[in-house]
Amino acid sequence: MHNRETGYERHPGNPQRSGGITIEDRKRTSSRKKDHLLICCDNAVEYGTSGFNDIRLVHNALPECNLNTIDTSARFLGHPLKSPLFIAAMTGGHPDTTEVNRRLACAAERFGIGIGVGSQRAALENPDLEDSFTVVREHAPSAFVCANLGIIQLREHGPEWADRAVEMIDAQALCVHLNPLQEAIQPEGDRNLDGCLDALAHLCDGCRYPVIAKETGSGISAETARKLWSAGVAAIDIGGFGGTNWAAVERERAKTGEQVRLGEHFLEWGIPTAVSLVEVVRTGGPIIATGGLRSGTDMAKAIALGAELCGMALPLLKGAMQGDEALIHTIEELHAQLRVAMFCTGSKTLTELGRARTYITGTTGQILHTEE
Ligand SMILES: Cc1cc2nc3c(=O)[nH]c(=O)nc-3n(C[C@H](O)[C@H](O)[C@H](O)COP(=O)(O)O)c2cc1C
Repeated sequence: MHNRETGYERHPGNPQRSGGITIEDRKRTSSRKKDHLLICCDNAVEYGTSGFNDIRLVHNALPECNLNTIDTSARFLGHPLKSPLFIAAMTGGHPDTTEVNRRLACAAERFGIGIGVGSQRAALENPDLEDSFTVVREHAPSAFVCANLGIIQLREHGPEWADRAVEMIDAQALCVHLNPLQEAIQPEGDRNLDGCLDALAHLCDGCRYPVIAKETGSGISAETARKLWSAGVAAIDIGGFGGTNWAAVERERAKTGEQVRLGEHFLEWGIPTAVSLVEVVRTGGPIIATGGLRSGTDMAKAIALGAELCGMALPLLKGAMQGDEALIHTIEELHAQLRVAMFCTGSKTLTELGRARTYITGTTGQILHTEE
């Protein structure tokens, strides 16, 4: 059995270990974080289609609103935000990632948008790495910040690690990530997910911060969403297929051998984001739509399909890697596109955009039609 409360007791008395985690474990976790960042920036890690190309917002030739006064403000879990754009969880956990998180945090503060940090496992294993996460709160003092922990670490270490992750960055919410495909392909991945739903329910029970369950690129089905709501999560980030593809990232990392072929085989695996969004909206909310959103019109489509926030990772990472100015430019462009899409659907607010009509065509239409 796992000791949810401590996790630490599993390897008592081993001088090589600190809190049940070897020095080698810590180094591996940290260097993996840097690998992911570099691989995502330097390689083609996007794959497939999110389904947003199959969605068309119905044009309104007589919008009866003023483009200059369109209001993109949002509310999420009670927090006011200036726009529905959410900087999805990406990084931290290696000293070289600190500057990227600083740039992302500055942008979050400047634009009044929400931001997630990458998995905090590395800093929970080795507090010397906390700076790469605390930099986010330092530079985004008023932003809606989400902590991040994998569901396997939650099962292994219990609510104590969740609390520490939230406290580390004074977060308003905790994202618990679910990434079975990545774990299966990653050479050092955790293959046993038994007991994870119980661990999540245990955390949510009486938790003093909202817990968001999030996929990282393979999507969430209606069935899984119902289990997550029953476990007590406050929101779901669907993290659908069609953007950053973890089979591709881990294939790149593995370089040679069986894991490369396994990654290759699963490149197509997952629920396209638009499909996952429509499915999960039918089960409840609030929902963050992430996975392959690449423009302000994708954001508008996601809101029209029922999302509250629109998460983006890779496009913002690429901006941040170039520098503060490039990131600001990327976000301004996304917002300009979102505003025009709102204008041309006659939506003065996001609430009105949420009622905008869509045509659902192509494969997305077919999948959703056969679902009904
Ligand atoms: C470099 C990189 C690192 C990521 N690390 C994490 C992570 O630690 N925890 C997590 O929940 N999601 C992580 N993600 C997944 C993103 O939050 C997001 O769900 C996914 O990339 C899909 O969005 P995109 O297509 O806009 O990139 C990471 C994404 C990238 C690009």
